[in-house]
Amino acid sequence: MCSQHKNHWENVYKTKNENEVSWFQETPHKSIDLIKSINIDFSSNIIDVGAGDSRLVDNLLLLGFKNITVLDISSKSIEKAKIRLGEKSDLISWVVSDINEFKSEKKFDLWHDRAAFHFLRSTKKIKSYVKLVNELINNQGTLIISTFSKNGPLKCSGLEVSQYDRKGISELFKNFKLNKSEIYIHKTPFNTNQEFIYNVLSKN
Ligand SMILES: C[S@@+](CC[C@H](N)C(=O)[O-])C[C@H]1O[C@@H](n2cnc3c(N)ncnc32)[C@H](O)[C@@H]1O
Repeated sequence: MCSQHKNHWENVYKTKNENEVSWFQETPHKSIDLIKSINIDFSSNIIDVGAGDSRLVDNLLLLGFKNITVLDISSKSIEKAKIRLGEKSDLISWVVSDINEFKSEKKFDLWHDRAAFHFLRSTKKIKSYVKLVNELINNQGTLIISTFSKNGPLKCSGLEVSQYDRKGISELFKNFKLNKSEIYIHKTPFNTNQEFIYNVLSKN
């Protein structure tokens, strides 16, 4: 992805506090509930893709998960999450990378992505993300991916996004079984509503 895209996100995290961005969640309840519902071991390899400074990682640690990777294109967002976690940040594998350039020896039992995938707009980049998911999720592993729905906003952070529905997600991730697809209304810190779709898929 172009450096302009990275600069955009670095600038967001340099200039805004966590509750000054539309996607902020004090506790990411929906993701936590879905992760609890799949009943995976605490030793499972988990990655949160495009995590920013989300508090999901704090909650995963509290739940008892031990092998957590947090990836974001913005080094500033990772720095902020590390500072918030303090000593506990040593327990996490931190990766600063564009997801489309991410290489990993490690494979994952759970891949979580809330509101990062939908920033990919070109067919080429969307396909490359799907290929990576196919390669890096273990057999029987889970993909939890949440995007703006067809009734959701057309832009986020000033950038155009791709909207999805159940059909679009199942057609893209053909090697996965779509177990759950749920609409979720996110209340932003500015008291507006955004319609998301949360999808849980398992690798056949
Ligand atoms: C709307 S925020 C969501 C953050 C977090 N997932 C959450 O739910 O709070 C989108 C995040 O995706 C990251 N991002 C955007 N494009 C990316 C890419 N190509 N590779 C990795 N991260 C990316 C941004 O830096 C930002 O942190």
